[in-house]
Amino acid sequence: MSVTDENATRRPARVRVPHLLRWKAEGRRWAMLTAYDATTAAVLEEAGIPVLLVGDSAANVVYGYGSSLPVTLEEMLPLVAGVARATRRPLVVADLPFGAYEASDAQAVASAVALMKAGAHAVKLEGGVRTRSRIEAVVAAGIPVMGHIGFTPQAEHAIGGYRVAGRDDAAAERTLADAAAVAEAGAFAMVLEMVTAPVAARIHEAVDVPTIGIGSGSDCDAQVLVWQDMAGLNDDGRLSFVKQYADLRGVLRGAAAAFAREVEDGSYPDAAHSFGA
Ligand code: KIV
Repeated sequence: MSVTDENATRRPARVRVPHLLRWKAEGRRWAMLTAYDATTAAVLEEAGIPVLLVGDSAANVVYGYGSSLPVTLEEMLPLVAGVARATRRPLVVADLPFGAYEASDAQAVASAVALMKAGAHAVKLEGGVRTRSRIEAVVAAGIPVMGHIGFTPQAEHAIGGYRVAGRDDAAAERTLADAAAVAEAGAFAMVLEMVTAPVAARIHEAVDVPTIGIGSGSDCDAQVLVWQDMAGLNDDGRLSFVKQYADLRGVLRGAAAAFAREVEDGSYPDAAHSFGA
């Protein structure tokens, strides 16, 4: 039985930060998916996903922006509330969007508090050495923080585009320093995005908190994907590290087309789907 099957059948109470730390000590791997609405979050809970991320990827997949930069804290809050209200077991982590923590540690704490009041159980923020004091301030406020290093989409323009982190020795050292800073600042876990597999493996060995890979190889405690990528609902060009586990776009397109056909030819609604006298 896989961890996910076991999770689906046993249904323990809410997954909390100490569970994730214990799972790391036990060498138990786990999956994280994004979620942005109540319906999807409930299905992902049924599937046994222990950690749901209300990611700032909502900018693209919910709000239709071209990057994660435009989405605001105010736009994130109702999504967090919907996911939190719909679920009982998963740990719900909410992204601090760009602009909600750059100005000061105090701004980071205020934004994190708003996400927690909306129902999150933890927040995620991007950056390593450069955002260390933000992580420390939010942790000091009693809010669990998930870090995010490697390729950090909110810093896309500073980084110079979508770039794999850790390709040469200097970049590897920078990425390792970021991981150390995030762990020392008190984060309970960290996302490693597009970090070379060997560097991700070194980080996994070096830090005591779970590492969550996305495009960073298999030597991580957990893996995360945007759920629409995982389920084949997006059509915006496949990232090479994404594996599609379904063709939901095809299924939904087929269902919608069948519905339209039956409405147009008058076969829906039939007697079985109508109220008699
Ligand atoms: O916003 C997001 O979806 C993320 C994950 C892909 C890690 O940050």
